[in-house]
Amino acid sequence: MKPTEIIGNCSLYLGDCREVLPHLPKVDLVLTDPPYGIGASKGTWGSSNKGTVKDYGKDDWDNAPIDDELLGLTIAAGTNAIIFGGNYFNVPPSPCWLVWDKENTGDFADAELAWTNLQKAVRLKRYMWNGMLRANNEQRGDHPTQKPIGVMQWALDLAPKTTLTVADPFAGSGTTGVACVRMGKTFYGIEREPKYFDIMCERIMREVDRPQLFPFSYGTTDKDKQGFQSDSQLQLIQTSEKV
Ligand SMILES: C[S@@+](CC[C@H](N)C(=O)[O-])C[C@H]1O[C@@H](n2cnc3c(N)ncnc32)[C@H](O)[C@@H]1O
Repeated sequence: MKPTEIIGNCSLYLGDCREVLPHLPKVDLVLTDPPYGIGASKGTWGSSNKGTVKDYGKDDWDNAPIDDELLGLTIAAGTNAIIFGGNYFNVPPSPCWLVWDKENTGDFADAELAWTNLQKAVRLKRYMWNGMLRANNEQRGDHPTQKPIGVMQWALDLAPKTTLTVADPFAGSGTTGVACVRMGKTFYGIEREPKYFDIMCERIMREVDRPQLFPFSYGTTDKDKQGFQSDSQLQLIQTSEKV
């Protein structure tokens, strides 16, 4: 199946992942954020202060969580999988859940959970996503459940260092794809809604065109502060600093 768009190392499909996934090569990692079934697509969930909530239109893609068959298809698409919203799905026990602490102060969730099949312990990331207050001054676009690039980079960095290919079957505005461009991974993104697919293409195009000399800093560890993309890159730079 031909991608709708190819931008750099990103193959982007406008369509239903149920139909597209069987045509993709198996990837090293599925990193995704499927619909949880909490009505987030209407942009009014979780807040009593409706006046501050952006109107994202009448989309209904988040009226129900993905079913077990689609979940199975999604997990099987990669050697490893990281699924945000894992607490809404019928997933097996795992030693390694990811906890993203959003440092929230309102009545939205304090944290989000991602299920993984990684053989690691539970990992926690503090990365502020609290209304207008966002770590690294990350911009928010026109997707109601846009994830921070910094959180997706953190998740990517937890995958085995051999991870070269990544798929996001529920790509939305393409945050996983932007993180993949920054970290030098080959990306396959699928999105069903044309307006979000267009945003994904624009964001990835911008990222591919951006000079990658000083990659984005996404966290608070020594490695993160220095803005390095991966352990191997950090080791490389530390080694060259000693020479
Ligand atoms: C939770 S959002 C992902 C948001 C994304 N993480 C971001 O940062 O923009 C889930 C997305 O999956 C899309 N979607 C839902 N069902 C789909 C399907 N069967 N195939 C492809 N995309 C689907 C929705 O349109 C929505 O944009």
